[in-house]
Amino acid sequence: MFYLISIIGSGRVGASIAFLCVANELDDVLLLNRTKDKALGESMDIANAIPSTSKFSIRGTDDYSDLSDSSIIVIAASRGSYTKDRTENIKSQVDMIKEIAEKVKQYCPSAIILVVSNPPDVLTYFFQKESDFSRFKVIGIASSLDSSRFRYFISEIFSVTQSSISNALVLGEHGDSLVPIFSNVSVNGSELNSLINDITRESLINNIRGYWKQLRNYKSRSHFGIAKNTYDVIHAIIDTKELFIPASIVLEGEYGEYDVSMGIPVKINKNGVFEIQKINLDESEKSMLKESAKKIRNDINSV
Ligand SMILES: NC(=O)c1ccc[n+]([C@@H]2O[C@H](COP(=O)([O-])OP(=O)(O)OC[C@H]3O[C@@H](n4cnc5c(N)ncnc54)[C@H](OP(=O)(O)O)[C@@H]3O)[C@@H](O)[C@H]2O)c1
Repeated sequence: MFYLISIIGSGRVGASIAFLCVANELDDVLLLNRTKDKALGESMDIANAIPSTSKFSIRGTDDYSDLSDSSIIVIAASRGSYTKDRTENIKSQVDMIKEIAEKVKQYCPSAIILVVSNPPDVLTYFFQKESDFSRFKVIGIASSLDSSRFRYFISEIFSVTQSSISNALVLGEHGDSLVPIFSNVSVNGSELNSLINDITRESLINNIRGYWKQLRNYKSRSHFGIAKNTYDVIHAIIDTKELFIPASIVLEGEYGEYDVSMGIPVKINKNGVFEIQKINLDESEKSMLKESAKKIRNDINSV
């Protein structure tokens, strides 16, 4: 089967995803950027990472008609950065995603869409509504990154490798209302909840929420983590493997929510999301998830 991975937005995140895709010989990659020179420059640079044995290539463009035949579209475009909150430029990002949705619908109506741009839950919602694509084919990627951060902090607390930690999932918004699910996590086979107190739990939640701010004390913005988490999804789609991650899709009653998109546990394969996993949550997690859905819904309604 013919696959073409197109990445809209050739900034740090888009370019990092492209690099992983070509270096690992996933498929042909197209980088599309508002400013054409950036797409050309990044694709020229990344082209040197193509292994000599690879049958795939990369090219850059600013022409949306070049998206034709793409099977997977990653949206990593952004009209500006934020300093206090990921929803800071929400209006301009929503305008952008609506324009992109129109073009994608025109040139590749069968593609699977991975929404990375911030705020991903709100943009996943608007892309799906604007395009009318199946909700199982419009997937916001962010909660898996938050879950990586959850795992990272647990590993730091116990001085263990991340492979010692199981089921560290973060659900809900990719933002200040995100919900780490403590009740299912184990560390070397022991329940996390039996190993920590409320103070540590609170500090873990705050650390995950504030990760991006802390990182900005040392470098401008993150891109490697989200690039790897997005690459894993592309890999699962192309290699027809099953991947279990938390990701954002429009909900129709799952976890008690309608008409909102937020991170929930899903299984992904070549068709996009093929199963929504129902996992057990304790009462406090249920109530935090409800608050998170409310926050995203308010953001959606604010536009
Ligand atoms: N989901 C997550 O967990 C996660 C993690 C990290 C980052 N992000 C988000 O990912 C997005 C990209 O981050 P970044 O650091 O790569 O940003 P960046 O370096 O500023 O790159 C954004 C790129 O998008 C391009 N662009 C803007 N509008 C476009 C359009 N309509 N069509 C095509 N290209 C367009 C810009 O082009 P110009 O060259 O013309 O400006 C720019 O090159 C941001 O929204 C960021 O907040 C999400």
